[in-house]
Amino acid sequence: MTASIALESATRDAPSQPFEIRRFDAPVGAEVVGLDIGRPINDTDFARIHRAHLDHHVLVFRDQRVSPADHVAFSRRFGPLEIHVLHQFQLKGHPEILIVSNIKENGEPIGLGDAGVYWHSDISYKEKPSLGSLLHAQELPSEGGDTLFADQHLAWEALDPALQQRILPLKAEHSYLAKYEELRAKNPWRPKLSQAQIDQVAPAVQPVVRTHPETGRKALFVSEHFTTRIVGLPQDESDALLAELFAHSVKPEFVYRHTWAPHDLVFWDNRSLMHLAAGTPDHLRRKLYRTTIQGDTPF
Ligand code: OGA
Ligand code: MN
Repeated sequence: MTASIALESATRDAPSQPFEIRRFDAPVGAEVVGLDIGRPINDTDFARIHRAHLDHHVLVFRDQRVSPADHVAFSRRFGPLEIHVLHQFQLKGHPEILIVSNIKENGEPIGLGDAGVYWHSDISYKEKPSLGSLLHAQELPSEGGDTLFADQHLAWEALDPALQQRILPLKAEHSYLAKYEELRAKNPWRPKLSQAQIDQVAPAVQPVVRTHPETGRKALFVSEHFTTRIVGLPQDESDALLAELFAHSVKPEFVYRHTWAPHDLVFWDNRSLMHLAAGTPDHLRRKLYRTTIQGDTPF
């Protein structure tokens, strides 16, 4: 038996871990208590986690005192990982980890300091957007720094049926560059993109309403951060429709607001949710590590 097969069967046959999944008193989300993602997770436990992720869309794994290697290995069980275009903010030795942080060392940013300041779904600007992302708390501010999650299945279901019919066949363009220069003007530490980076983020066209490939549920799939226009509509009509959809999609009745606790690992479904960084006061330090799982072409 090779070492990797031995390791795989040791994982599959590992004893179950006693853990609980507790729904939040919120429109979406649940916490997972008692599981250690750094220990082997057998197939039965993994199936429970996978099911809970599809049911609740965002899972908060509490108290994960695990290494970047454990974070990467756990993430990989859900699919291959993306390498973020901002390679400047990769964790040394772990290119699959993007550092999300407002910390500066010797005047240089150690991570992406303004990740998620507009509502978005990660990597929606690529032909194959992300399945989900896992964000692991490393250093938290004493105030601020919350992350909000909006359920886009609920947003779709709550739309007026006439509007549902109107938008069902539509497609929209998503672009990483849409807000990049605006953000760079506000946050001059944001790196100037090289031509190679720009080439990596050519805009993509996505359905305005997507079907979740595992559950079959429909979800709205447009965002303030990346969606630039509805394909085939005059600009003014496109702007008006997008503004209406953006406002609708993040109503409080679709939102869970996450206040971070030390060692939280938060795993959300980018096919079901949008998310937003609520913001951290400049003088307080915040650092998290993110892995991003590759997903399928939306339909
Ligand atoms: C992200 C992101 C939000 C936050 O890392 O993808 O949007 O609160 N982060 O840091
Ligand atoms: Mn994000």
